[in-house]
Amino acid sequence: MSQSSSVLVTGGAGYIVIELLNDNQQVVIVDNLVNASYEAIRRIEQITGKKVTFYKVDILDKKALLQVFRQHPDISSVIHFAGLKAVGESTQIPLDYYYNNITGTISLLQAMKEVGVKDIVFSSSATVYGDPPIIPIPETCPIGSTNPYGRTKQFVESVIRDLCTANKDWNAALLRYFNPAGAHPSGLLGENPLGIPNNLMPYLSQVAIGKREFLSVYGSDYPTKDGTAIRDYINVVDLSRGHLAALKKLADKPGCVEYNLGTGHGSTVLEMVHAFSKAVGRDLPYQLVDRRPGDVTNLTANPSKANKELNWKAQVDLEETCASLWNWQSKNPNGLEDCPGDAPPESVINYL
Ligand code: UD1
Repeated sequence: MSQSSSVLVTGGAGYIVIELLNDNQQVVIVDNLVNASYEAIRRIEQITGKKVTFYKVDILDKKALLQVFRQHPDISSVIHFAGLKAVGESTQIPLDYYYNNITGTISLLQAMKEVGVKDIVFSSSATVYGDPPIIPIPETCPIGSTNPYGRTKQFVESVIRDLCTANKDWNAALLRYFNPAGAHPSGLLGENPLGIPNNLMPYLSQVAIGKREFLSVYGSDYPTKDGTAIRDYINVVDLSRGHLAALKKLADKPGCVEYNLGTGHGSTVLEMVHAFSKAVGRDLPYQLVDRRPGDVTNLTANPSKANKELNWKAQVDLEETCASLWNWQSKNPNGLEDCPGDAPPESVINYL
């Protein structure tokens, strides 16, 4: 990619921008800040020592998106993260999920088409595999998600695939993430779920700082070595590096390609409890309870296609991932909520 081209990142106030900036890429971010904050932007600048070009724009607003593209005619590719992402919530407000994730993506793709930008990296999810018949899961495994969130990912994958089939000059990498875990090693950027966390690692780290009494381990009768379910936990920095590798792959004009971003190594819930307890330095309390409806036994990636074709491999081990999460959580017990105000950093924020 030439130095004069920029990458547009949607929903991008996070780790990926750090990796792109560290790789000397020019980055333009659009984010509606529903799940992110200006403080995250400040911290990205602090970590990288670089200024960020940011627009507070919702991708559903195609007019505003077009203005961003026209203001930055050097944008040549898009990494598309923007969307709602809570599985449980998606079963309660499915229309919001379908509208934001599917209509939002169509708005983005239409804007791209209008300005002639034809390369996209899309953040999909391993949830598209539903309850997979093959472990570890190859990209060729049949897909069939079991919840509205997953169905939006599956549908957007199809929209992008159809677009690439109809227009041979479009290229797309559909990245199916397994379970993202950990935080930036600086301790400056990490996840801070609003309300009670649904996911294992954020919940466990709130147990560690004393916000929650104990972890409920959902199900101890799965056919696994300790009876608890298996997932493939991938470090967030490894995941970001995977996006950078996918972006570079698009230069080969591959058409539409799918990649699993996982480690290929499955861990049980209890193994994660023990690994995180080790990072914290004490045993964290947990109770074995019934299975959570909708959970499957095992989601472990076969990442060999990404290893080979993207020349990418997850490198950070579980110990380091747990240490980074604890570093972030112990330094920022309330996430970024305690940071004074949430005014935009004047020098860097662009408004339309
Ligand atoms: C879910 C979504 C996935 C999404 C991910 C992160 C599905 C099938 N998966 O993954 O698309 O990317 O969230 O948003 O829709 N667990 C406990 N106690 C808890 C929480 C979780 O025991 O308090 C267990 C779960 O039963 C599961 C494992 O920990 O076995 C991981 O759960 P979680 O972190 O919620 O992620 P997934 O459900 O795998």
